[in-house]
Amino acid sequence: MKKFLLVTDLDNTLVGDDLALAKLNQCLIQHREQYNTQIVYATGRSLTLYHELATEKSLLAPDALITSVGTEIYLEGSKTPDQAWSDKLSSNWNLEQIIAITNHFADLVPQPESEQGAFKASYFLTPESAKSTLPQLKQQLQAQGLEAKLIYSSSQDLDILPTQADKGMAMTFLRQNWQIEPTCTVACGDSGNDLALFQSGLECGIIVGNAQPELLQWHYMNPNSNRYLAIAHCAGGILEGLEHFDFL
Ligand code: GLC
Ligand code: MG
Repeated sequence: MKKFLLVTDLDNTLVGDDLALAKLNQCLIQHREQYNTQIVYATGRSLTLYHELATEKSLLAPDALITSVGTEIYLEGSKTPDQAWSDKLSSNWNLEQIIAITNHFADLVPQPESEQGAFKASYFLTPESAKSTLPQLKQQLQAQGLEAKLIYSSSQDLDILPTQADKGMAMTFLRQNWQIEPTCTVACGDSGNDLALFQSGLECGIIVGNAQPELLQWHYMNPNSNRYLAIAHCAGGILEGLEHFDFL
């Protein structure tokens, strides 16, 4: 057993099976005490929706919080997003121009105001519309010289982010600041916006058993022995994966 950094998505990854979550929390509390293991939540939710979830579910206080699909980082206890990370995202990012383009797409239904951020424009989009809308939107952004990353998750959510932002890049930023090796880092997820957590292939990856088709498809197309597909769902899958990698 040794210290590790756990970076986990919340909805349908850490959260979704209350009994398994209680069991995992117990192991993590002990591990934290003994080895100073660090916990980071990497969620698509805004800080507002994170706080909502934290009142409903028993979540351990994280050492840092990555919210809004990697566009905001909150270090332990802080109420304001990390400035160094925001500075990195602001170059070549023009939210107003991006929104001016998305306004032309009737199929893009804006998500609630709480889920719109300085570095994140989010919409609901059906899978049927996504097939034609995503390539057209990409093409129009490119034609206007706008740099942006499109992330489509769970057959319903479209996030438009700066190219320098996603959950994986935010994880790397924290990991490097904390001087933790990728081999001592475990990333866990279930859907499209978690794919970036597995992209470098250097960190240990756990995909929970209830993962969405978009992530599973990518997993099978990009095999990597550092990535484990669990059988168990949600926190049960994380536990299974941590045992697989000998962290627990
Ligand atoms: C969360 C966020 C939403 C985002 C989705 C996928 O549900 O609230 O804004 O689109 O995650 O990343
Ligand atoms: Mg999720």
